[in-house]
Parts: sequence; C-alpha cells; structure tokens
Amino acid sequence: MTPSAPMTEARAAAVGSAINALWEPGSLANPYPGYERVRALSENGVLEAQFPDWRALFLSGHAACSAVLRSPHAISGNGIQNLNGEASEGVRLLQSMMLFHNGMSHQRLRGLVSAAFTPRVVEEQRELVRSLLDSLLDDMAARGGGDIVADLSNPLPARVIMGMLGLKGDDEARFVGWTQSVADLLGGMNQSPELMGRIDADAREMRAFFQDLAEELRAHPQPGLLSAMSAAQDGGERLSGDELLSNAVLLLAAGHETTSNLIPGGLLELSRQPEAWAALVENPRRPNVADELLRVVSPVQFDGRTLGADVSVGDVTLPGGSFTQIMLGAANRDPQVFADPDRIDWERPNSGRHLAFAAGPHYCLGASLARLEISETFAAIATRFPSLRVTDSNPLFKPNPVLRGVQRLDVTVS
Ligand code: HEM
Repeated sequence: MTPSAPMTEARAAAVGSAINALWEPGSLANPYPGYERVRALSENGVLEAQFPDWRALFLSGHAACSAVLRSPHAISGNGIQNLNGEASEGVRLLQSMMLFHNGMSHQRLRGLVSAAFTPRVVEEQRELVRSLLDSLLDDMAARGGGDIVADLSNPLPARVIMGMLGLKGDDEARFVGWTQSVADLLGGMNQSPELMGRIDADAREMRAFFQDLAEELRAHPQPGLLSAMSAAQDGGERLSGDELLSNAVLLLAAGHETTSNLIPGGLLELSRQPEAWAALVENPRRPNVADELLRVVSPVQFDGRTLGADVSVGDVTLPGGSFTQIMLGAANRDPQVFADPDRIDWERPNSGRHLAFAAGPHYCLGASLARLEISETFAAIATRFPSLRVTDSNPLFKPNPVLRGVQRLDVTVS
C-alpha cells in the first residue's frame, strides 16, 4: 500500500490490539470507540493489519469503503465458490446466493430476482405494513409496553417478506429460526460445532421445504415472488433449483434480519438522544428518518471484498490480491463526511450518502422496501407512543458483530 507508515514493533502491537478489540464481546454493545482507534491508526481511512496467518486492509474511511465497493476489481465471496466437496450444507446454501457471485454470473442472478422485485411490488406493501403496524402496536398499547424485538421488529419484516414471497403465515416461527441460522452463518462470533450442526440441519430443512414449494408453484403458479422468480427467464435461461432456493432464502434472511435489527437499534439511539426523539414526535413524517437511522445504526457493520487488481483511493493504492474489511459502521460515522457524526440530525443534508446498503453492483436489492418499512414504523411509533420509554438502557446484543442488533429491548408505552 502506498504510502504507509513503517511497521515498527510498537505500531504492529497497537494495530494488532485495535483489530482484535473489534471482535471482543465487549465491543458488541458499543463498537464505535473501537472504530475510532482503528481510524486514528489509519492513513486515508485505510489500515493494514498483519497477523501470523492472515493479512487484511481495514477500511474505516467513507471514501475508501465507497471506492472498493464500487470498483469492478472488488470480488465478493472470499473464495466460497472454490469449496466443493468440503462445503457444508450451510455453505452450499450460500454458494448460489447472488451476494457471493461476481460479474456476469452476479448480473444474471440479480436480474432474474429483480425482475420479480419491482418498485410496484414494493409500493404495494405499504398498506400491508400499515395494517400490520396498527395491530402490533394495538397489542403493545393493551399491555402498556413489551419487548420491541419479539412484539414488533421480528414479526413485522418477517410477515412482509413472507407475504411477498407467497409463504404461509403459520410457518412464521420456523422462517424466523431459519433466518437466524443464515445470520449466524454470515457473521456470528460463535462458530461452535453445535451451532454449525444446527445451521446445517436448518439448511437441509430449507432445501427440502423450498424444493417442494418450487415444484408445486411451477405446476400451479400463485401470486408472490417465488412463483415470479421460478418463471423469470434470462435469454431463455431460468434459475436452477439451487439458485431459486438460495436466493429465496437470501430474500427471507436479508429481508428480515437487517430491518429487524434496525428498529430496536434506532429506538435505543433515540432514547439516548431525547432532542431527536422530541423532533420526531413533533413531525413523525420527516423525509430523512429512514436514511439518518440507517446511517447511525448500520445493521450491517462489516462487508468484505478481495481485490482482483489494484484499486486507487485518492493518492493511495490498495494492492491487488488484498482482502479488505469494509467497515460500513465506521464509514457511516466518518467525520470527514458527516459533521458531528454520532448525533441524529433529521436536517442533515447528506444522510443519504450512508453506506448502510453498501454501494456498487451489490447495492441492497431491498433498499426501497427497507426504507418504506423503517419510515412507516417510526412514523407509527412516534405518533402512537410519544411518551415511549426504553426501560433497559443497556440491553444485551446478539453475538454477531457483522449483523449487529439487540436480543431484546423492553419499553413502556402509555
Ligand atoms: C444486499 C443491507 C434490507 C435484500 C445488501 C447489502 C447490504 C444490505 C449492506 C450488500 C452486501 C454486500 O455488499 O455483500 C441491508 C439493510 C437493510 C436491508 C441495512 C435494512 C435495514 C433488505 C431487504 C431485502 C434485502 C428488506 C429484501 C427483501 C438484499 C439482497 C441483497 C442485499 C437480495 C443482495 C444484493 C446483491 O448481491 O446484488 N443489503 N439490507 N435487503 N440485500 Fe439488503
């Protein structure tokens, strides 16, 4: 990397300790001081970290993250496609997800799914989202409060994406369990044999469930994305059985876990910034709400790319062959782009520059659905429960530094 600070022993120790701290359980509740340590050691938002058996570039600067995400030389998947015989059931499920494909193969998979995921289909969800919010918030009002995760942020996005896919409501608990397995596979800290066993068992169940369903839908098409995805064609080519399965599971997991973490994450931040909460209560339909919350919460904190060739960030060259850890949560609070970055500011002129949905070819396919769900949810909560109070100010976080979110968030409402 050019230019770079010389790697003295003291610097190597400081870098090692800053990087290791990112994955410590203590950082889950508040990773931001750790990101600032990394930023302080970085040049132009880039820090090279070398350990005995691995080496990576940690990108905490917005410009560096954005340049890599948009680069045609950035390769997603970290070699997952090369694992053949040794791939577990869970990894096999990941292999056909568009998320881990590149170039033409990615374009084909994304094209086939996005043909079914149109802006009209997304906008049609607004009424469903509003009526789900009405009934979930009615239940919370009747009980004087509850756990935002169990009572609102788990069921809402799960029901929306299940409805869009055309899945039946009586399987909700099973689908939520499956999405948790996919989330654990994508970024969990605990990779114990028990957990990997549970993930593989869930992957086998998902495979059997979606294969049967796809066959049924091919024979008897129904409304919903799954039918549309199984019918979508690209130059006469359809999604194979494995591709349909993996990308349906991707939509289910991506459509659920991230939005589900954003809602309690946003409420927790707002409970710590009463001025922003008061301003939201005053005007619950501020246009910037979804983007400003996405920026401060960043439900996906890390992304990764391998560089197939050199990538330039300003006058710095990131060498081809490097693995980059893209610190989306740090980029979204980069003070060079966002003034007073920790503060929720509904009037911020550039909230929309956040990288919470990544950027470039893998830019979140569900971004407009997520924005719709987030703005409707916060408008409904601020309108119905202006005196909502978070009663546990230090909630427990899931052991997942990548897909970051609380286990539960207790609130009272009146
Ligand atoms: C991709 C974030 C909601 C579907 C991504 C990526 C991010 C992201 C960061 C890029 C991953 C990468 O570069 O490796 C989020 C956040 C959400 C959200 C923060 C909500 C707060 C949704 C929803 C759906 C969805 C609601 C669908 C129903 C997808 C899909 C991809 C994706 C299919 C893969 C795109 C590709 O590889 O081309 N999302 N997402 N996401 N997201 Fe989302």
